[in-house]
Amino acid sequence: MKHLPRLPLAAILALGITPLAAQADALEQQLTDLQGFQIIAHRGASGYAPEHTWPAYDKARDMGADYLELDLHMSADNRLMVIHDDTLDRTTNGEGNVKDHTLEALKALDAGSWFNQAHPERADDAYAGAQLLTLDEVIDRYGDDVRYYIETKSPERYPELQRALVETLEAEGLVDAGSVIIQSFSQDSLQQIHALNPDIPLVQLVWYSTTEDSDGLVEWTGVTPAPAEITDADFQAIADYAVGIGPNVTYEGQDVIDASFVDQAHANGLLVHPYTINEPADMQRLIDWGVDGMFTNFPDRLNAIVD
Ligand code: G3P
Ligand code: CA
Repeated sequence: MKHLPRLPLAAILALGITPLAAQADALEQQLTDLQGFQIIAHRGASGYAPEHTWPAYDKARDMGADYLELDLHMSADNRLMVIHDDTLDRTTNGEGNVKDHTLEALKALDAGSWFNQAHPERADDAYAGAQLLTLDEVIDRYGDDVRYYIETKSPERYPELQRALVETLEAEGLVDAGSVIIQSFSQDSLQQIHALNPDIPLVQLVWYSTTEDSDGLVEWTGVTPAPAEITDADFQAIADYAVGIGPNVTYEGQDVIDASFVDQAHANGLLVHPYTINEPADMQRLIDWGVDGMFTNFPDRLNAIVD
């Protein structure tokens, strides 16, 4: 769903609207927009370009994504870094933990060449040498052209992450502009953020799988029981701090949720944003279930279905 342009301050004042009212309107507008279908570009258009780099995010914006998805870690000097893994090894020419490297060292790495080797059919010489990005850089580049769907990764590694993130978003005016959702698998991380700023829309991620110790499906961190056992009270406990839930759809080729999961979440006031859906047939199946948006590495495919 395309959101309405947000008014600059001069236009707001000319209309006689107070900044406080405009802030409330912007947040209200975001929640209204969330009732429509949202295209969430997972790590950017990461099916086409190296995840979390300028080419991936530029393509995602150009393909009509409503939200750019970012995973966050912290550098040794406490900068908010946009990268998925705890370590550098998979997506850069570096190695070791993100948190053990300074911003300067991280910016010197090549975060693009791995993609050309892993995906020769989509390789582009321009991707070689792509840099890791900070959250600040991403916000500076895209401003309020798009919205941001930011995940706190491994928050137990970074006790300062929640506060640093909220301070950055507030300083940039993105909360007031209704431009941000924060997501996490960590209920504690989301509840910390909710305590710091209750206006930020939050989405609780969940991962349903089987384990050696379980008879059936379990949720990774125990946020809910297995989907078949979820009660309204379980969904309500999430609705106390979050506007939505982000589930995986399949595990080892089998569905872990179904249309009734979506219906029950909706009945309890929660949006449903499944991850990560890349095939058009799967996208259409979930749209038929009534989901409110989804994460995809191919935002153009999803746009072609929902437009
Ligand atoms: O944030 C939704 C989805 O991205 C969660 O999984 O591992 O891709 O961050 P992951
Ligand atoms: Ca993520």
